Amino acid sequence: MEFVEIDWNSNLYSQEIELRDRLLRAPLGLAFSSEELAAESSELHFALVDEEQVRACAVIVPLSADLAKLRQMAVHENYQRQGLGSSLIHQIELALQRRGFPKIELNAREEAVAFYQGLGYQTVGDRFMEVGIPHWKMHHELG
Ligand SMILES: CC(C)(COP(=O)(O)OP(=O)(O)OC[C@H]1O[C@@H](n2cnc3c(N)ncnc32)[C@H](O)[C@@H]1OP(=O)(O)O)[C@@H](O)C(=O)NCCC(=O)NCCS
Repeated sequence: MEFVEIDWNSNLYSQEIELRDRLLRAPLGLAFSSEELAAESSELHFALVDEEQVRACAVIVPLSADLAKLRQMAVHENYQRQGLGSSLIHQIELALQRRGFPKIELNAREEAVAFYQGLGYQTVGDRFMEVGIPHWKMHHELG
């Protein structure tokens, strides 16, 4: 499994969108708009790739010099609970540390909070609704 940074609008980016659409959007009756995807050109796209197929992906938004936001984390349904999600987060954290970010935040779907807690992330504040489902804001200091 190779850790890669995906170029926006590349073949791997198309695969990333397909995976994110299938796992994160379609089940909620939502779809990506072309404006939404165009705005992603300024974000960082990371993935675990095997046999030229995206098996896991996540997007990073640099919010400031001190804070990066992780969003749109998804592991292919045939590859969940095999350590890919944890591995991708660890490698993204290392990549962000190398770029000088001291802290990462994310909005976790309630069902994924235990996954992030296992990786050292802590909830901050109260439960809130986003895309129609409950979420928690989580933080993690890098390094
Ligand atoms: C949540 C998700 C990213 C986790 O990735 P993964 O590769 O399956 O996770 P890992 O195999 O690295 O899991 C590591 C540990 O996290 C915990 N964990 C993983 N998924 C979990 C879940 N759905 N609920 C509770 N704990 C979970 C477990 O303790 C697991 O260890 P175990 O398998 O030995 O019990 C993945 O299941 C996924 O893409 N789900 C659908 C989309 C989604 O919910 N994305 C998150 C949006 S915030």
